[in-house]
Amino acid sequence: MPSADEIRDAQRARWAGLSASWEKWDSVIMDQLGPVGAAIIERLDIAEDHQHLDIAAGTGEPGLSIARLLPKGRVVLTDLVAEMLEIATRRARAQGIANIETKVCSADDLPFHDATFDSVSVRFGYMFFPDVAKATAEFARVLKPGGRLCSSVWVKPEENPWTAIAMQAIATEAVVAPPDPNGPTMFRCAAPGYVSALYEGAGLRDVDEWDVDIELVTRSPEEYWAMISEHVSLAAAALQQVDGPARERIRAAAIAKVTAFERDGMIRVPGVARCIVGTKQDASGTR
Ligand SMILES: C[S@@+](CC[C@H](N)C(=O)[O-])C[C@H]1O[C@@H](n2cnc3c(N)ncnc32)[C@H](O)[C@@H]1O
Repeated sequence: MPSADEIRDAQRARWAGLSASWEKWDSVIMDQLGPVGAAIIERLDIAEDHQHLDIAAGTGEPGLSIARLLPKGRVVLTDLVAEMLEIATRRARAQGIANIETKVCSADDLPFHDATFDSVSVRFGYMFFPDVAKATAEFARVLKPGGRLCSSVWVKPEENPWTAIAMQAIATEAVVAPPDPNGPTMFRCAAPGYVSALYEGAGLRDVDEWDVDIELVTRSPEEYWAMISEHVSLAAAALQQVDGPARERIRAAAIAKVTAFERDGMIRVPGVARCIVGTKQDASGTR
């Protein structure tokens, strides 16, 4: 079992390496994940003067969308990886969003005072934290009483063919080790109730979780494979194990399989995410 420092170091290297691909495929990724960002925002109870914290913000979502809702407030975007936040800063500038700041830090060790933020979001970050309970305690600590935490994780691979197709193709050529249930992998938080239990363990109230459908849309099977193989952490890591010819066979297998998802001249592959919301008890203890 790797130590927390080893997990952080490996994640830092992994995501720094993937950052250019996230920028390259930005519009496809943002369209795919947009419904999850919208679902998170809907339950955060945002007001125009709020101070919001986006954890594992990566290239900026949902933090940048939230910043647009806060004409009198601000969003702090945090991530373990400076390269991802540099992209977020470029995207903010391109969109004319000025009420943000960025901070490189790990989710389980936040450099903020207690009760600083009105709301906290974590879109697809939970799976990669070295200590998910410690991270959740940090989110609860920096929330103001009555403030909300809303996050999202992926449900099981069977409901996410957009990534399962690629992983099945890779498994025909490479040994894909069964994931360590406590290690940082994409489906680590997939079990129903997994994140809710963390929230309750951190003292949050009114915890609720629900599923959100997403769709990955690409112009062709070839574009599907290029996009997935370049930016999905699990696929990119597994592909490093194989040589050029095997990589070509994997590509052909994935392209053949994903062709079944062609509709209206586009490739549309579905998936399901789970969102989880909770509220920090306020001083009166009524929430
Ligand atoms: C799948 S991306 C999600 C990015 C963004 N929230 C989105 O939904 O588009 C996961 C992000 O988690 C970050 N990450 C990994 N380990 C982390 C940690 N210990 N603390 C904070 N961020 C971490 C990665 O650097 C990466 O930017």
